[in-house]
Amino acid sequence: MSSSSVSKSLLSVYVLAMVAMQLPLMHSVLSLNETNAYLNHVCIKSEGTAKGSSYEGAVKRLVNFMTTQLSYGFVNGAGGDGPTNIYAKIQCRPDASESICRSCINTALSDLRRKCPNNKGRIIWYDNCLLDISSIFSLGEIDYRYIFYMYNAKDVSSNKIAFNKNTKELLCELKEKAINKKELPYRRDYLYAAGAENLGTTKLYAMVQCTKDLSAFNCSVCLDGIMEKLPKCCNGKQGGRVLSPSCGFRYELYPFVRT
Ligand SMILES: *[C@@H]1O[C@H](CO)[C@@H](O)[C@H](O)[C@H]1NC(C)=O
Ligand SMILES: *[C@@H]1O[C@H](CO)[C@@H](O)[C@H](O)[C@H]1NC(C)=O
Repeated sequence: MSSSSVSKSLLSVYVLAMVAMQLPLMHSVLSLNETNAYLNHVCIKSEGTAKGSSYEGAVKRLVNFMTTQLSYGFVNGAGGDGPTNIYAKIQCRPDASESICRSCINTALSDLRRKCPNNKGRIIWYDNCLLDISSIFSLGEIDYRYIFYMYNAKDVSSNKIAFNKNTKELLCELKEKAINKKELPYRRDYLYAAGAENLGTTKLYAMVQCTKDLSAFNCSVCLDGIMEKLPKCCNGKQGGRVLSPSCGFRYELYPFVRT
């Protein structure tokens, strides 16, 4: 990566973090029953817009077809409307069933169409899924442009420095687990790990995940990059997440992964 792209990515990190932080702090009351919260979206202006309805129609056809192939929890696809190529990536959390994943993507598709009408590039994040549409082929590449974070409004009652350290340690352990899984035969939990750790009287729950088009090495690079945002993102907060189009992590003091 050149130094100019580094400073550019840092700039967007800052802006998007600010955007995310102005959102209502929805996670303090999030329970397992509401795990498909909308998290964030971006309309990628630099990719331009498509005129007329043919682009939207082509995106819909492509994504609808892709939702018939969700058993692996990750699908990439390519299509087009004539002048414009369309590349799409779908990723679901491995603990989301195929039907939860499909319904998440259907919501994502219509929501994204409303939020970014005619933008060729657009990405949306929910608890259970990620939908990434682009006119540029980027399979296997780490997307550093749109990192954002969210946190639970409540602080931990224990020592913040120790809590941050424990959080980072658990996330690092999970990263090692995630990148040491073998891909074949198409494991749903490839490049994913979730776990928990007792902290005195409380328990810390966490997960890490990369999109399955990344190599294990690039997954590690991506997770190292977003873990650097700790503790800045969520200093001593009871819950937090940092997400990008390529990887993400989350921790909470309550279980949030389906078993
Ligand atoms: C979640 O849903 C289950 C079953 O519908 C219900 O028993 C439980 O009380 C709900 N929990 C919360 C925190 O709303
Ligand atoms: C790793 O990521 C870089 C940067 O996004 C990309 O150029 C490269 O092709 C990826 N390497 C592999 C092995 O996928």
